[in-house]
Amino acid sequence: MNTEREFPNWEQLYQEKPVETMPWFNPEIDPDLDRALTKLNLQSGTALDIGTGPGTQAMALALLGFKVTGTDLSAAAVNKAETKAKEKGLDIIWKQDDILNSKLEEKFDFVFDRGCFHVLPPEQRQDYVLVVDRLINPNGYLFLKCFSHKETREAGLYRFTQEEIKEIFSSKFTVCDVQETVYHGTLEQLPLALFCILQK
Ligand SMILES: C[S@@+](CC[C@H](N)C(=O)[O-])C[C@H]1O[C@@H](n2cnc3c(N)ncnc32)[C@H](O)[C@@H]1O
Repeated sequence: MNTEREFPNWEQLYQEKPVETMPWFNPEIDPDLDRALTKLNLQSGTALDIGTGPGTQAMALALLGFKVTGTDLSAAAVNKAETKAKEKGLDIIWKQDDILNSKLEEKFDFVFDRGCFHVLPPEQRQDYVLVVDRLINPNGYLFLKCFSHKETREAGLYRFTQEEIKEIFSSKFTVCDVQETVYHGTLEQLPLALFCILQK
């Protein structure tokens, strides 16, 4: 699972390509997130979308009534998402922010990470856990979508087993649920993924 992997220059990618062409682009709310919110009866509160990229999930959460902040390492991604959200009349806070060195000072009722954690270098995963823990209110949730170890395509991002998720996060979170699912986007064959509900 830890074979070293290569990632794009995120800023250059968002500067050069329309977000609609990116493999992870999904204009609808992620169905696994939607199910989790319903299951936990979460209907209002503050949400942070980490590595928001095209910002579709931040926008979907705002439409559901959450007070949303969307952040990404790439300023171009954040600028494009902000423009789109303004066109839709959505009130969302957008910030360029590296989650591994986050400058955010507030706490959120939940954090959503759809595809950011699984691009981070393995040696920085514990830094990620500490930062995300700091950003979540007591008893709040981290909803995490990442590639599953069952995904067999050579190229792409880091992959995880349920046991690895437990190992990585259990110092700060209770792992409430891990489901095998897919990563919805523009690829013909959707990558196999895990959807994890973690509680602080
Ligand atoms: C696979 S994309 C997913 C985008 C978005 N979450 C979605 O589902 O459409 C991963 C995103 O993580 C962002 N990213 C990578 N490293 C990051 C970091 N250290 N801090 C914040 N964002 C990061 C990238 O710029 C990219 O937008």
